[in-house]
Amino acid sequence: MSRRKVTVVGAGNVGATTAQRIVERGIADVVFVDVVDGIPQGKALDILQSAPIIGFDTKIIGTTRYEATKGSDIAVITAGLARKPGMSREDLLSANAKIVKNITSELIKYSPDAIIIVVTNPVDLMTFLCAEVSGFQKNRVFGMGGVLDTARFRTFIAMELNVPIKDINAVVLGGHGDAMVPLPRLSTVSGRPLTEVLNIDKIEAIVKRTRDGGAEIVSLLKTGSAYYAPSAAVMEMVEAVLLDNKKILPCSACLNGEYGIKGLYVGAPVQLGKNGVEKVIEITLTKEERIAFDKSVGMVRDGVEQVMSLIGKK
Ligand code: LAC
Repeated sequence: MSRRKVTVVGAGNVGATTAQRIVERGIADVVFVDVVDGIPQGKALDILQSAPIIGFDTKIIGTTRYEATKGSDIAVITAGLARKPGMSREDLLSANAKIVKNITSELIKYSPDAIIIVVTNPVDLMTFLCAEVSGFQKNRVFGMGGVLDTARFRTFIAMELNVPIKDINAVVLGGHGDAMVPLPRLSTVSGRPLTEVLNIDKIEAIVKRTRDGGAEIVSLLKTGSAYYAPSAAVMEMVEAVLLDNKKILPCSACLNGEYGIKGLYVGAPVQLGKNGVEKVIEITLTKEERIAFDKSVGMVRDGVEQVMSLIGKK
């Protein structure tokens, strides 16, 4: 079997830690791309020089040239501006749309068969944009949001209850924005519904902290946004595709009638495998959950028109 190849675009913190996690896990060689000459090369060389100590055999190269990405199995787009304190993810829309559009055009020239995972914010809209620009089948383009949001939800539950994180399952639906929909009813602690384990005030506080999870990190860092947990989330998605393990993970996926929505990218549990999104899993929602979901989807829908005009399709 030929060696697997993953391109990571964007040499900021999310890109660099994603590249590091992938080569350290030993699942693929990485081509690390950025427009700023020297940064991808320098960071890649630095990561490569950790191989003798960490003990991985996968390779990483840094470059400004897309030729080197030729034949990638997966491309991860992390490039773009990050939030500053007080900004929402949607505030990044027009600046990041140009960046993601250009990157997508370059990537598809050299890797027409790749799967593309979008991380750049606002992620549901950037994923939509990438799918439009690439013309790829929708199952081959999806975004990272829900894996991170559920990881935050699980972390906060574990912090509250002081139980092992592996005993906690959690579900978050909707857009990766301030209106995302954590679902306590379907979240469990050693199989027990969260709603039986914690009182409503505690649950509401955890739900709120999960929704604001990205902003909390931005306000602490002041000069950037989260990257350790986001890159771990990307790694899990990359692994599910490369290993074809059919894991069900919440991703920003193009819905085709599921949840009554067509043609929009929003967060839902999906089965990931070698073809990308192989199945969208539908959860029956209560009335309140449905209202919250519709509100979150509405925020994504509002941005789509703007995206279409930014890429000259309207
Ligand atoms: C966050 C960014 C990745 O939630 O959206 O931290």
